[in-house]
Amino acid sequence: MIGLRRVGPAEFTARLDAVLAVYTAAMRPPKDQVPGRRTIMENHSVQPGFSCVFAEDAAGTPVGLAYGFHGVPGQWWHDVVMRALADRNGEGSARGWLGDAFDLAEVHVHPDHQGRGIGRAMVVAVCGGRPERTAVLSTRDRPTTARHLYHSMGFVDLLTRFVFPGGHERYAILGTVLPLKPMAGRPADA
Ligand SMILES: CC(C)(COP(=O)(O)OP(=O)(O)OC[C@H]1O[C@@H](n2cnc3c(N)ncnc32)[C@H](O)[C@@H]1OP(=O)(O)O)[C@@H](O)C(=O)NCCC(=O)NCCS
Repeated sequence: MIGLRRVGPAEFTARLDAVLAVYTAAMRPPKDQVPGRRTIMENHSVQPGFSCVFAEDAAGTPVGLAYGFHGVPGQWWHDVVMRALADRNGEGSARGWLGDAFDLAEVHVHPDHQGRGIGRAMVVAVCGGRPERTAVLSTRDRPTTARHLYHSMGFVDLLTRFVFPGGHERYAILGTVLPLKPMAGRPADA
């Protein structure tokens, strides 16, 4: 039995080992990138409006997590994406999408538990009750499960084939107006 639970920044950082275990199993990053990811997550946890949902098994072990925070100037992702959106779609579009946005930074489910609705339920839960006008995120610009999930919840592509500074892989920037549509919590064909 898997349950969802909101956790604050203090518990999130205290349980970073468990968080990174889910992240590593889901994303399979090169081992040498994991310490850097820990630092990024620690920095995320102190951003304004940080909000996290754990999916936990009966023993209280996290098998999934979703978190985000309020996007503000000075955050690397916010500034890079604001500039890119402004360049491609104009300042008005960039401000409209990112001026009052919940940055959905990470969504991961352990492979043993994928495909059972946990990812969808966590995104609905972590976006629920947010005060921001929009939610935004980046994901690999490929036909992945994540891309399918976000589109089925009402997210639209704001930018595609976007390469972050220092990177090489292509990403898509997605956004949706909040609150999520009621059907975001249900399978697309339900
Ligand atoms: C993306 C992820 C978080 C989704 O979580 P999940 O619990 O597996 O997803 P859900 O069970 O809620 O299913 C979401 C949708 O994806 C579909 N889906 C699930 N597994 C799938 C698979 N292996 N292949 C294709 N579609 C799949 C589901 O059918 C569902 O769509 P539907 O409701 O239209 O039927 C999870 O698969 C994951 O952690 N992936 C690896 C890490 C990752 O990519 N994170 C996101 C980074 S942006």
